[in-house]
Amino acid sequence: MKAAYFMQHGGPEVMRYGDVPDPVAGAGEVLVDIHAASVNGADWKVRAGSYRKLPCFPYVPGRDFSGVIGSVGAGVEDFKPGDPVFGVCEVTQEGAYAEKIAIKSELVARKPQGLSHEACAAVALIGLTALVSIEDTLALKPGETILIQGGAGGVAGFAIQVAKHIGARVVTTTSAANVDYVRALGADQVIDYNAQDFTRIVSGCDAVFETVGGEVAQRSFAVLRPGGRAAFIASGNAVPVSPRADVTALRPNVARDRPHLERIAYLVERGAVRVPEMKLYPLSQAAAAHALSQGRHLRGKLVFQVR
Ligand SMILES: NC(=O)c1ccc[n+]([C@@H]2O[C@H](COP(=O)([O-])OP(=O)(O)OC[C@H]3O[C@@H](n4cnc5c(N)ncnc54)[C@H](OP(=O)(O)O)[C@@H]3O)[C@@H](O)[C@H]2O)c1
Repeated sequence: MKAAYFMQHGGPEVMRYGDVPDPVAGAGEVLVDIHAASVNGADWKVRAGSYRKLPCFPYVPGRDFSGVIGSVGAGVEDFKPGDPVFGVCEVTQEGAYAEKIAIKSELVARKPQGLSHEACAAVALIGLTALVSIEDTLALKPGETILIQGGAGGVAGFAIQVAKHIGARVVTTTSAANVDYVRALGADQVIDYNAQDFTRIVSGCDAVFETVGGEVAQRSFAVLRPGGRAAFIASGNAVPVSPRADVTALRPNVARDRPHLERIAYLVERGAVRVPEMKLYPLSQAAAAHALSQGRHLRGKLVFQVR
């Protein structure tokens, strides 16, 4: 099959497009003919070698996808060949930048009929991360105020909409170019981080969802009310050390499972969350897509049209 892969760690230029061995569905797995896959913020870190030790090369990255079941392994009874599905890989598995993937059946869900494969690939991992962070980890409640850092990004853009669906008040940070975009997602208050220091404008928040990392993460504690909580996804597996004893720092445990995928489908189908702005690429242009992602100023999502 064709895939985008790399043979060594390095910059975006190490991405290659070519033939790799076809996967085979093992027991409990489905083989999915991928129609679309998305680029996530972690992908370029994996390629650069800053994430974790990789098992072997060629290495095919990619954590979420949408496609059609091609075959099923022994013991799989909930899907059959021809079923349209979308899914997210386990933390230890990647391989979605490809024409096929073999994956545990519990990590895929039925693709909503009214959504394109590109849209489903775009929302899978960002939706799962946003739901686990906002609903499961922060347990955001109606009427609460949340600061969401980096509102124009994939995860944060989904999170803004989930928070509004819950009935919370949303403050978010972005550059001037994306102010209208995050307002359209539902943000109540938008801070242009190049023009204003968020710590001087926001205070007394019940919660923070931090997706930017670095000093933005460290400074985010300042906006919380006593007893407030903050969730961090851009600071590796650890959370920044809080300078305050009266707030809680949390690292969402992004469980990959079918119930979360079904909740994404439910929210998007009902219009509670809309699909992010998408930039479409062929798999053969993975290097260009990675360069854009690595620039850290992408609005919405990069999606590969695989077939
Ligand atoms: N499972 C997990 O825990 C998990 C899952 C997914 C992602 N992540 C991590 O979460 C982070 C975000 O991922 P993503 O895919 O959503 O990223 P992304 O889509 O690449 O986000 C980039 C966004 O960050 C914004 N941004 C950059 N610097 C900023 C700043 N100083 N203040 C506010 N916004 C800023 C940019 O907006 P402007 O152009 O307007 O600056 C851009 O829209 C990554 O570090 C990723 O590795 C973790």
